[in-house]
Amino acid sequence: MVTTQYNPFIPEIHANPYPMYVRLREEDPVHWSALMEAWILTRYADIVAVLTDSRFSANRRQAQNRFAQEAQKIAEEFGPFGRTQTMLTSDPPLHTRLRRLVSKAFTPRMVEGLRPRIQLIVDELLDAVRDSGRMDLIRDLAYPLPVIVIAEMLGIPPQERDQFKRWSDEIAATLGGPFTPPEVLERARKSAIELADYFRGVIAERRREPAEDLISGLIAAEEQGQILSEDEMLATAMLLLVAGNETTTNLIGNGTLALLRNPDQLRRLQDDPSLIPAAVEELLRYDGPVQGTGRVAMEELEIDGRPVKTGQVVFCVLGSANRDPAQFENPDELDITRQPNEHIAFGDGIHSCLGAPLARAEGQIAFETLLRRFPNPRLETDNPQWGGSFILRGLKSLPISF
Ligand code: HEM
Repeated sequence: MVTTQYNPFIPEIHANPYPMYVRLREEDPVHWSALMEAWILTRYADIVAVLTDSRFSANRRQAQNRFAQEAQKIAEEFGPFGRTQTMLTSDPPLHTRLRRLVSKAFTPRMVEGLRPRIQLIVDELLDAVRDSGRMDLIRDLAYPLPVIVIAEMLGIPPQERDQFKRWSDEIAATLGGPFTPPEVLERARKSAIELADYFRGVIAERRREPAEDLISGLIAAEEQGQILSEDEMLATAMLLLVAGNETTTNLIGNGTLALLRNPDQLRRLQDDPSLIPAAVEELLRYDGPVQGTGRVAMEELEIDGRPVKTGQVVFCVLGSANRDPAQFENPDELDITRQPNEHIAFGDGIHSCLGAPLARAEGQIAFETLLRRFPNPRLETDNPQWGGSFILRGLKSLPISF
């Protein structure tokens, strides 16, 4: 008899979902959750198989479950971001076209070129707290860094950044999926419409006068005679904003917490900063910002002998795959020299994270600079508060002293 249920909404499980993942992997790796009206997958091999199988769609609107239908109703009121498919929620050939056009404006080379600027921003953020000997790592570093970077990439002037950040936060607050309170949804709806209007203005300006930014890149990215429609461009700009901010914040927040709780690994990294890139990969594996992603079965099929019907949702728990002992030795240990480390914190298959090079650059620079400039960091709480949702895992605050 199976007793384990997937319920990430219980506070203790929200704070630490990993023991629940162990039980599901062992007892019921293809688990039907009546609560979520979805199949919950927790094993690495099953999840990679689904994410790379074209019989599953990323277009959640096709899901025959209560939450997807509610989300659809809400999305329709969200302006272009709600009514237009983005690459994140589309299948080929639409996905191929949207992703290719954006990748052009978003190349790894472009990201490499941003490193000096990211360094400067990190240094400025740390300068502001240096003399006090303490900081809230989330408020003072992890939160502002990705917003400033993406705002600059999109060409948002510094004086408009605060307003831009508010819109972005209010929209991101709904990313938790089902169970978002109505007042949060209402604020997000207003913000999505205002942000779309704002971007419309930016796009019009860049059409008249191109600049060195992503919006101009999107306008210029013309391929095989196809261009992005205005709605697609708006939805893409908004996707980059919501997909990249809280996730990167949580890489820096969850990663710092993991290092502070594993002082031997912290010391090792301080002694040998050349381990920074490998450490970032391990931190992504160990406590990743995105705990899961959903797909919709487009035909009747079986996963490990369990019957999946057309239209049913399959939720892939990336955070569990990354702790699967069938894939990783001593998966619950943080080992910044882990080799090989084929984690799927950025997903897998055609939707694997487009922003991964940028997230990696920001994470590497943030950790390297923090540990170099504040060599003796200490956790100022035994009980850090988790915010986020069952999809996005992150801390509300992380007080440290140095
Ligand atoms: C550590 C930080 C990040 C993590 C852990 C992360 C994680 C992910 C994951 C798991 C997916 C796949 C979702 C799925 O398969 O349904 C994804 C997709 C995506 N991410 Fe990220 N992400 C991060 C940062 C960023 C940044 C900085 C950007 C851009 C500024 C970004 C843009 C995107 C986009 C556009 C997609 C959709 C790609 C597609 O559908 O083809 N992400 N991300």
